[in-house]
Amino acid sequence: MAGPVNVVPSAPQLADALTIVRLSLHVFAACVWVGGQITLGGLVPTLRREAPQALTAVARAFARLAWPAYALLVATGLWSVAAVHASDASSAWDAVFALKMALVVAAGVGTLVHQRATTASLRGAAAGIGTLATVAAMVLGVALAG
Ligand code: HEM
Repeated sequence: MAGPVNVVPSAPQLADALTIVRLSLHVFAACVWVGGQITLGGLVPTLRREAPQALTAVARAFARLAWPAYALLVATGLWSVAAVHASDASSAWDAVFALKMALVVAAGVGTLVHQRATTASLRGAAAGIGTLATVAAMVLGVALAG
């Protein structure tokens, strides 16, 4: 005879310790990569006006923070793919994941082109594409986490 069912399907559950570490590192890296780009973008007009000679050094200093954060996103993202048993995922999850990977590549390539560009128009276009792709990847990440 079946006993009383006392598990409420929608009841909030605490994450286990390893999940807290995995997602915290992923989200922390996303904060540095996404937030840093947007913050730096917002500071550039002031820097250009008040201290134009510092612009290149500031951009280089930011790159030294941003690229390790991107590497941490990839490493913890791969960890998540293993941890959530992605091979059992629905086809919708697979499709969103594939789109997210394309956006992660676009974010990385856009940022790289932005750093290396020699004309202002290419630099601006690449920054725009990189930032949009990054923000879209972040939203799809939230969708993947369910
Ligand atoms: C621009 C780079 C990236 C950003 C901004 C980003 C952002 C995020 C965010 C915000 C979440 C939601 C976390 C939560 O709600 O707790 C997430 C989840 C996830 N991300 Fe990323 N991510 C990036 C790169 C990657 C990469 C490179 C991979 C895979 C190689 C990946 C795989 C995943 C997976 C599988 C989840 C779901 C984790 C789970 O359900 O436990 N992400 N991502």
